Amino acid sequence: MRMRRMRRTEPLRALVRETVLTPGDLIYPLFICPGKGVRSPVGSMPGVFNLSVDEAVREAEEAARLGLGGLLLFGLPESKDEQGAGAWEENGIVQQGLRALKQSEAGKKLVLIADVCLCEYTSHGHCGVVVKAGDGPNANFEVDNDSTLDLLARTAVSQAKAGADVVAPSDMMDGRVAAIRRALDSAGFTQTPILSYASKFASAFYGPFREAADSAPQFGDRKSYQMDGANLREALREIELDIEEGADMILMKPAMPYLDVVRAARERVGVPIGAYQVSGEYSMLHAAFQKGWLDPTRAMLESLVGIRRAGADFIVTYFAKEAARLLV
Ligand code: PBG
Repeated sequence: MRMRRMRRTEPLRALVRETVLTPGDLIYPLFICPGKGVRSPVGSMPGVFNLSVDEAVREAEEAARLGLGGLLLFGLPESKDEQGAGAWEENGIVQQGLRALKQSEAGKKLVLIADVCLCEYTSHGHCGVVVKAGDGPNANFEVDNDSTLDLLARTAVSQAKAGADVVAPSDMMDGRVAAIRRALDSAGFTQTPILSYASKFASAFYGPFREAADSAPQFGDRKSYQMDGANLREALREIELDIEEGADMILMKPAMPYLDVVRAARERVGVPIGAYQVSGEYSMLHAAFQKGWLDPTRAMLESLVGIRRAGADFIVTYFAKEAARLLV
């Protein structure tokens, strides 16, 4: 047997290629900010911007032209508070973005996914309500699970009202998928799917995102709600629980350092699976591109094919537009 026979020419290689990547598999994250005509670059993420609603609509037009699968929307509110009210206000920044996108031609060709979390909207930068636990020298601050659920559910309902096609909770509170499903159903949004970030690890690779979304925790870290990067079995339990609670699709992140988790989930569950190639994965590749250490086109596509091969049906990636340009 000579394995090289089938590798001799590009047409032969194309014929036997096992994994394909198409623009429709890719979801492009957008960071929406107040103002008009705003396109302010995110320092640690070359090519990524904070966009005012009008600029986000232009970005969506390009995304639709390129045939991308959808957009994942994050918001930078005008102001923040303890509870994160900007997340669910009727005229919140993501809600404004959703309404504008929904009215545009481009918005109808893309799946509009709204990230459901409080960290971009809270003054302390945590993903839930912060409470004081205990007294005296042992007192500390904790993110309270159950009082956060109602706020997340309100956020999801307000996003569905504003036109979200899908809501995507990324907070990692226990029971939030069930709480969001109940709230959506009783508000009449029985047809709005939930894409749950079912396995989300407490990762250093979110660093650049926290600059983009201005959402770094002001004290402590997220390890009491996001998962320990060492745990695969725990990730599978999170996924099973979210599916039981009513998740229509699951999202796993980060992608590249956790491809075994994507593969294990693929083998175990039937729901569609997405993987999020997060900000740090994008930034580290870009840093190497800038140094001339990696070939941008090849490294970018290889990273995305690897994520698909691991079992992801779709990929959230800041490379979405660049990759799609090469694929069409
Ligand atoms: C919000 C959220 C985060 C990301 C997606 N949703 C940040 C975090 O958990 O700190 C990270 C995405 C990225 O790094 O690209 N909770």
